[in-house]
Amino acid sequence: MSDSRLPDYLLRYYRWAYVAPAALRFWDHEGLVDLILFHQYRRLRDLARTALRQGPAGDLLQIACVYGSLSACLVDDLAPTARLHVVDVVPEQLRHLAAKLPAHASVLHRGDSAHLALADASFARILIFFLLHEQPAPVRLATLREALRILCHGGRLVIVDFHRPAPWHPLRPLQWLIFRLFEPFASELWTAELIPLLQQLHPDLRIEQELICAGLYQRLIIDKP
Ligand SMILES: C[S@@+](CC[C@H](N)C(=O)[O-])C[C@H]1O[C@@H](n2cnc3c(N)ncnc32)[C@H](O)[C@@H]1O
Repeated sequence: MSDSRLPDYLLRYYRWAYVAPAALRFWDHEGLVDLILFHQYRRLRDLARTALRQGPAGDLLQIACVYGSLSACLVDDLAPTARLHVVDVVPEQLRHLAAKLPAHASVLHRGDSAHLALADASFARILIFFLLHEQPAPVRLATLREALRILCHGGRLVIVDFHRPAPWHPLRPLQWLIFRLFEPFASELWTAELIPLLQQLHPDLRIEQELICAGLYQRLIIDKP
């Protein structure tokens, strides 16, 4: 698969993290991703799992691969006949993930979150875990639009990502520096809430926001009536 099919922002800003094979081998260690999230990886992963377990049953769609044990844990939580579908735009990410998941319980799709080749209303549960902060605003909006299109009525979308921390937060300067150096779009989640974007796309959503670690992270539970 040629690089030309990868989004510009991914090639320009995140090649070192997701595209080069050596990057995958280096970064896919739970201790490392846990360190990057200031030791909150397992807590955030489990908050996502809880929200999904409390949602409707059936297959689950994870939009974008995530390093560490998240996807394997999601498979563990599935009912015996359900499957975890994961979509990612980088083929190497999917190959790498395939080796970590049981084949009978997982389906991997190559695709761009902004234009997914999945049918309308085809999933009752969707997870987006730390993808949106990496995307430029128009791509972020398109990703949300696609997730809401694919989500069926009565379905649940769970988003876990960064949020603006409290002004006194001791990690705020360090997180800001990391964004400045490595994550050029992430601070947009500090200046704009995701909730109005979701409401603009679908005014009838029921949205519950939980702030974690004094606002450094957020979990959104979005139920589509
Ligand atoms: C979920 S995000 C960040 C997750 C987190 N930093 C971690 O620990 O892995 C990383 C994944 O998003 C994928 N990705 C980025 N942009 C994408 C897009 N437009 N469509 C689908 N996948 C995308 C990357 O290929 C990568 O596998």
